[in-house]
Amino acid sequence: MAPTQPLARRKAGTRSALRTTIAAAAATLVVGTALVVPAQAASTLKDYGTAAGKDIGFALDPNRLSESAYKSIADSEFSLVVPENAMKWDSTEPSQNSFNYSSGDQVAQYAAQSGKKLYGHTFVWHQQLPGWVSNLSGSALESAMKNHITNVATHFQGKVFSWDVVNEAFEDNGSRRQSVFQQRLGDGYIETAFKTARAADPTAKLCINDYSIENINSKSTAIYNLVKDFKSRGVPIDCVGFQSHLIVGQVPGDFQQNLQRFADLGVDVRITELDIRMNTPSDSSKLAQQAADYKKVFQACLGVTRCQGVTIWGITDKYSWVPGTFSGQGAALVWDDNYAKKPAYDGIVSAFSGVTPTPTPTTPTPTPTTPTPTPTTPTPTPTQTQGPAGCQVTYSVNQWNTGFTANVTIKNTSSAAINGWTLKFSFPSGQAITQAWSSKASQSGSAVTLTNESWNGSLPPGGSTQIGFNGSHTGTNTAPSSFTLNGTTCS
Ligand code: G3I
Repeated sequence: MAPTQPLARRKAGTRSALRTTIAAAAATLVVGTALVVPAQAASTLKDYGTAAGKDIGFALDPNRLSESAYKSIADSEFSLVVPENAMKWDSTEPSQNSFNYSSGDQVAQYAAQSGKKLYGHTFVWHQQLPGWVSNLSGSALESAMKNHITNVATHFQGKVFSWDVVNEAFEDNGSRRQSVFQQRLGDGYIETAFKTARAADPTAKLCINDYSIENINSKSTAIYNLVKDFKSRGVPIDCVGFQSHLIVGQVPGDFQQNLQRFADLGVDVRITELDIRMNTPSDSSKLAQQAADYKKVFQACLGVTRCQGVTIWGITDKYSWVPGTFSGQGAALVWDDNYAKKPAYDGIVSAFSGVTPTPTPTTPTPTPTTPTPTPTTPTPTPTQTQGPAGCQVTYSVNQWNTGFTANVTIKNTSSAAINGWTLKFSFPSGQAITQAWSSKASQSGSAVTLTNESWNGSLPPGGSTQIGFNGSHTGTNTAPSSFTLNGTTCS
């Protein structure tokens, strides 16, 4: 097994893990003035990601949010959240046709309240699978799989923007993993799962996710061939997730090239579960290597336009899955056991060399009410900048078939504070908003009005806020040509 393949050294009896990701097309419009970089708070990873058009995600255990250091980092450093365990089959359907969304809803609510995109993980996986599933045979199993996907996707529709539909379906040699799904349903189960997911939530991106596929090898090529086949036959698939449970000093040299070959098939790619472990205890030399490795991984994503972002599989080493699975290894994340930033943090920042971070007000403290629909996928690629004004609007979309997700950053480029805002624009090609988050949306014909929520109405000079929405389009999805903020054209 390749050195980047973490499961090779897992303790016997522990559950393994792996996975996938995403896809999309992006267009960005920037309307406004030159960048104003506020002198106050240090830039966060999210700020760099936003400026570069990449999601910066983390895996959340909602039970840890009561810990202030955990929540503070979660709130401020990330733009995307994925439930580490809360949306897996054993959490969501522990008994057949008896669904439990309590934990998943906590994650969805956190995502909505903190203005982060919500990535769903995962529908079909051989692990964290309740025993009753494995007791089914043939058509009963297929029905159960379809029922599971349909119910969970429907429950989270409008909140989850992208799903890991099938996770870890391949062996390292490129053959199909002999899961209960593979054994009883045959090769077609992956296609069935994707079609079921698309039917249940036509607005969500659908990804296949796996580990040890960061380089060009038998396993990544097997998935490459599956994606190619799906695309050629019109089977829905939007994205591929590269888990990236890596080992210090072993980031593959062809990572970016591998991401690019998938992107060239017409799918998005995403690094979905990044951690880089070492033999413990750590020391300064290992931590320096780890910093260089984190930098390399981020550079690989930054080098591929269709790479949507990087998700780190947790925040603090204290709660990482690694030591429990790989005896004697750990220290794989970016914050140590005491929530101190490790050199890896600066390694990541250095990957964004040349990128001017887009500051966002540190996480809103929204008044918890009904969960606001979820954030979604952006791949902002600034395409147009218009002249000076008191505001700058960055509009980016990820689109597929007849759906899209837009992410909008509103920045106050004037020297006066804004207290309460209304953003207006027109859709040029018949688009319709279906769901918005972090703002109140209304639409009359092509005219769209978005007003602030209670927690993001204040924009100090240089301050900005991110909002987003899902929408439908008719095949053409031209970006709005101009925006006004409180009646003033941002140009
Ligand atoms: O919730 C129970 C708790 O009630 C019980 O007391 C405790 C006793 O061990 O177990 C708890 O469940 C654990 C669960 O995490 C939540 O903490 C499971 O035992 C444990 O196996 C599970 O581990 C998760 C693992 O997937 C399962 O394979 C890790 O947290 C999670 O980080 C890991 O994530 C996977 C991805 O989903 C797929 N890719 C690989 C990645 C790492 O393995």
